[in-house]
Amino acid sequence: MTDGAKKKILIDTDPGIDDSMAILLAFASPEIDVVGLSTVFGNTGGDVTTQNALRLVELAGRPDIPVARGAEKPLLRPFTGKGWHVHGKNGLGEVEFPEPKVQPDKRRAATFIIDTIMANPGEITLVPLGPLTNVALAVATEPRIAANVKEVVLMGGAASVPGNASPVAEANIRNDPEAAHIVFHAGWPVTMIGLDVTMKTKMTRDDLDRLKAANSPWTDFIHAVTRHYLNFYESLGITDGMPIHDSSAMAYVIDPSLFETKHVYTDVDHQSEHHHGQTVPDWRGQRERDPNVNVALDVDSDRFLAMYERRLTEARP
Ligand code: BDR
Ligand code: CA
Repeated sequence: MTDGAKKKILIDTDPGIDDSMAILLAFASPEIDVVGLSTVFGNTGGDVTTQNALRLVELAGRPDIPVARGAEKPLLRPFTGKGWHVHGKNGLGEVEFPEPKVQPDKRRAATFIIDTIMANPGEITLVPLGPLTNVALAVATEPRIAANVKEVVLMGGAASVPGNASPVAEANIRNDPEAAHIVFHAGWPVTMIGLDVTMKTKMTRDDLDRLKAANSPWTDFIHAVTRHYLNFYESLGITDGMPIHDSSAMAYVIDPSLFETKHVYTDVDHQSEHHHGQTVPDWRGQRERDPNVNVALDVDSDRFLAMYERRLTEARP
């Protein structure tokens, strides 16, 4: 596949164990050209997520790809650090890795996002995998990116299922609901890959052992960092595997036919004391607004998991 035919993506991320798996899926996919990473607080602090993103471009053999450090806290709220118990304080399941050699880009994430989209009009798919703070800052600073982005495919939200960070809210949206509200209403094409589909695609210990048998630096890395994440989900009583949330957004970018979606007006609650971060699709059109979000409702998880395994075991980093 020529570079011209590839989808150019910019990944905004808080790595993060499942973020790392999604980023490696992107690098293992011939349809995808990763043009940059921007980092955000979320699963752990912004200093650590940035170091991890730098480690990932090195692991991918692509230290040339810019990594821009972004927001350290939500727009209006304190950063709580609640992702630590899921991803470990180092964001990579407490597995120690050497310091990365490459340095972050000199620009902050919002500027980097604006520069990248405006330099490639109509070509960039923005893939946010963490709280939406950088993306909100970017579109508030330069609203023309809304007309110049190809699309926004984000992991976040829960349309018709319970939340994971509160009874109704998914963690990425809950971590910065004001930012999510801005992003959902920015007038650009948004696809929401939320818990409705990500909780349907779980990887088991056996799946991860088969990945490891491929003996590549990428599959070794995935196997090592997922021990902590598996234990976390098992401690919740989820014993049929771990949801690979962020990889679901990447899978949509690679092959949207894996998903069933519905275009519907969707709001983000950022005002209620207990329910902030809830994503609320107006299924019956009662608010009489135009659809603004393409909401993922179902996924062919067998086909998706087979694709993940094939891509990662066949990739020759
Ligand atoms: C999301 O929250 C984070 O813990 C994961 O990386 C994912 O982006 C799932 O709710
Ligand atoms: Ca994430």
